[in-house]
Amino acid sequence: MSHLKKLVFLIIIAVIVLVGCSSAEEEAGCSPNCTYDDLVVGFLQTGSEGGWRAANTASFKETAEQLGLTLKFYDSQNDLAKQVAGFQQFIEDPEVNVIVMSPLEVTGWDQVLEDAETAGKIVVLSDRRIDGNEDKYVTFVGADFVEEGRKAGTEMCKMLEGSESKIVWELQGNVGAAPAIDRGTGFRETAEECGIEVTKTQTANWSILEGKQVTEAWLKETQDVQGIFGQNDEMAFGAIEALREAGLVPAEDVKIISVDATSGAFQAMLDGTLNVTVECNPLLAPQVYEASLAALNGETLPKWIPSEESVFFMDDPNLQSIADGRKY
Ligand code: AHR
Repeated sequence: MSHLKKLVFLIIIAVIVLVGCSSAEEEAGCSPNCTYDDLVVGFLQTGSEGGWRAANTASFKETAEQLGLTLKFYDSQNDLAKQVAGFQQFIEDPEVNVIVMSPLEVTGWDQVLEDAETAGKIVVLSDRRIDGNEDKYVTFVGADFVEEGRKAGTEMCKMLEGSESKIVWELQGNVGAAPAIDRGTGFRETAEECGIEVTKTQTANWSILEGKQVTEAWLKETQDVQGIFGQNDEMAFGAIEALREAGLVPAEDVKIISVDATSGAFQAMLDGTLNVTVECNPLLAPQVYEASLAALNGETLPKWIPSEESVFFMDDPNLQSIADGRKY
């Protein structure tokens, strides 16, 4: 092969290599010294379904301002098709270098994740996991929802200790969502160890109104229930209202546990109507943005970056001062 042909051949190989492996880092052009000024985040929020979500959204908007990064906020209005369309929009947006998503459901992401990779966009999951596709996102920042469920089951066992009957009803989050699936799994894992029977379970879509309506319908069938597990605070608040209107005393006649630990849950515990709340931390933005910048600078991240969480109790003597110190 002539020298000229060899030279042309080598140049072609070099171009293919350069073009072939162009990723967000190369396209960012600032890697490995990108700063928050270089970060343009397209954030796909689920919607605005309650206190936890409001605190989560505020965390993203306020932290972006503090760090000086550009945040493009997309409200999916709790509609999966809208969230997928928003994802596509950010893939096509040349300014966006990192797409952050709080997935409404665990499935439905294969194609857009493929497209994001082809377009060289970095993807970070926030708050909720998805099924599979680990190679298509750099990390997941959020809670272990199964563990949250286990904690709730353990506390329900303690409260129903010695109770002849241990019938519990479960108010679930939106169908197909990681917290709805995983909290249910974790709750049953520990609750069934002490003989608890989950006899009724239904989605109430994270809402007070639906939590109330579902519980009212169940109470029309029977009042033989010793505990209610609300997979978030709002649904538990709805159950509390329904119990009251049915002449039952919430937190006494029927033990109630929620997940989130928002300020509303603390107020309900201070009012004596909620027994326990398992925290799910909404202030995820600092960790998410830190991970996004690290990924933009070509760093390899652990596949899961856990958030810090605790459990809070109605009968805690320091409850008022804990509540006073809360950020959400
Ligand atoms: O993904 C977290 C969950 O989403 C919260 O527990 C719930 O309140 C919100 O809707």
